[in-house]
Amino acid sequence: DAAANTNKTGSPFLVGSAIYPDCYNDWNCAQFMRGHMNVLVAENDCKFYAVHPSKDVYNFAACDKVVDVATKNNQLFRGHNVLWKDVNYSPWLANLDVPTLNATFYDHIEKVLTHYKSKAFAWDVVNEAVDDSSTADNPILRTDWVWYQTGADWVERAFRHARSVDPSAKLFYNDYNIENTNAKADAVLKFITDLKSRGVPIDGVGMQMHVQTNWYPSASRLAQLFTAYQNIGVEVHITELDIKCIAPCDLNAQGVAARTIVQACAEHDNCKALLTWGITDKYTWIDSTSKPLLLNETYGAKPFFTEMLAAL
Ligand code: XIL
Repeated sequence: DAAANTNKTGSPFLVGSAIYPDCYNDWNCAQFMRGHMNVLVAENDCKFYAVHPSKDVYNFAACDKVVDVATKNNQLFRGHNVLWKDVNYSPWLANLDVPTLNATFYDHIEKVLTHYKSKAFAWDVVNEAVDDSSTADNPILRTDWVWYQTGADWVERAFRHARSVDPSAKLFYNDYNIENTNAKADAVLKFITDLKSRGVPIDGVGMQMHVQTNWYPSASRLAQLFTAYQNIGVEVHITELDIKCIAPCDLNAQGVAARTIVQACAEHDNCKALLTWGITDKYTWIDSTSKPLLLNETYGAKPFFTEMLAAL
C-alpha cells in the first residue's frame, strides 16, 4: 500500500524507480518493479516530445501505459516532466513566433495536467531551468530555452497555471547538481525561496541526484538542505538517483554512497520520496560500463541494492 509506507521518522515515504517500455515484458524487471517499488515515474514517455508530437497534436498512449502499470501494481504515479529543454527533442517549437509559443506553453500545461488529474500525485512542472553558471546569491535562468522567450517569469507562470488546472497534484521544481556543496545547490534554494515568498504555488523540489562514487553529498549537507527546504514549506523528493562507479570501480564504495544518501533521506521527515533512475545496469541512460544502478546486468543484487535496503 503506497500511501501507508513511512520512513524512519514515521512520515509518509515512497520508494520507486523510473520505468521504460523495455521493462514491461522483461519478467525480471517487471517483477522487481512490482516487488520493491511503490511509486513509478516514466523515464521518457510523459515528456513534452512524447505526449505532444506536433502543434495541437497530443498522444498520451505511452504515458498512459505507465499509469496503467502503476495502477495495476497499486503504485503511485509521479509525473515527469511538463517543461524542459523541449526544443532539443521537439524541433517544431523552434519555428513558432512568441505569441504562438506562449499559447503552446499554456495549452501544454493544461492538456497534460487535465489528462492526468487524479492520476499523477505529483508533477515535475519545470525541469532544469536554472543555469549552471548561477552563483549562490544569484540564481539565473537559462536564457537559450524557448520557454524563456515567453518571458523571464515563465517558471512562475508555469506553476501558477499548473495549480489552476490541477489543484490536487503536488508541484515540483526538479534539477541536477542541487544536492551537494556547490553554488548551484545554494542558487536553487534561493530561487525556490524567492518564488515561495511571492506566493508561487510550488510544493516540492526534486533533487535528481545523478552522482558518482567520487562525488556525492555528505549526510550532513543533505540534512541541512532538507531542513532549509522544510523551513520554507517545500518538501524534497530524490527523483533520479544513480551513482556512476568511477574506475577503478569499487562496488562496495558505491554501496557506501547509496547508504549515505538513502539513509539521509529516510531519516529526515522532509525527504518524502526516493526514486532511482532505473534498476539494472542493463538499462541505463548512462554508459553501462559505469554500472550506475542497483542490480547488475543479469539482475543480481549489487551492494547498491543491499545497502539501500539496509538503510530504509
Ligand atoms: C534522460 C533519459 O534517461 C534518457 O533516456 C533520455 O535520452 C534523455 O533523458 N535529467 C532528467 C531526465 O530530468 O529526464 C533525464 O532522462 C536524465 C537527466
